[in-house]
Amino acid sequence: MPEQSKPPLHRIELGAVTPHNFRQLKCVNSVVFPVIYNDKFYQNVLEKGELTKLAYCNDIVVGAVCCRIDTVGNQRKLYIMTLGCLAPYRRLGIGSVMLKHVLQYVENDGNFDSIYLHVQVNNDSAIEFYKKFGFQIVDTREKYYKRIEPADAHELQKTIRPLKSENTNGSHE
Ligand SMILES: CC(C)(COP(=O)(O)OP(=O)(O)OC[C@H]1O[C@@H](n2cnc3c(N)ncnc32)[C@H](O)[C@@H]1OP(=O)(O)O)[C@@H](O)C(=O)NCCC(=O)NCCS
Repeated sequence: MPEQSKPPLHRIELGAVTPHNFRQLKCVNSVVFPVIYNDKFYQNVLEKGELTKLAYCNDIVVGAVCCRIDTVGNQRKLYIMTLGCLAPYRRLGIGSVMLKHVLQYVENDGNFDSIYLHVQVNNDSAIEFYKKFGFQIVDTREKYYKRIEPADAHELQKTIRPLKSENTNGSHE
């Protein structure tokens, strides 16, 4: 009899955020983040296709990621507004599945300069997590957050393509 392969211990999947399940996104974010996101935030992330996803572990919602596209000067950037996983489900690779999804989205699009996000300066686990995927601290902003402590935030960024040169004719000054 052929040996049967065992199913993985944790089946991690991503699913769409729709009007039917967006309360689950609200629920995850309210537990995972100290910041309270308002109704406008949730209206904006609804039906955003690949930019907003719920993460399931064995069919249970345990995490979520919400991104938006920003244009800063001549830079097209993907901003990770929230990416989080419920505490009991951390270190199982769920955050990685969500971040790999974002990286794949950016690669498929082919027209992003960078991916960036903000984290509280004391959020060591998130900083380690993002560094593992090639993000670097590029800025630190004092009093970035209004109602939480510490209020200071690091900006983490992963460059997708180098800064466009002002001088495109190949000559140097
Ligand atoms: C950051 C966060 C999303 C990571 O999610 P996760 O599902 O635990 O991450 P993963 O299991 O995929 O971890 C991948 C790697 O990141 C690093 N990492 C994750 N958590 C870490 C921690 N607490 N300390 C050190 N390294 C850590 C490790 O290298 C880990 O690989 P390993 O487990 O094989 O050592 C999760 O801690 C979280 O939800 N935090 C609260 C929300 C938040 O701060 N989000 C970031 C701002 S958007």
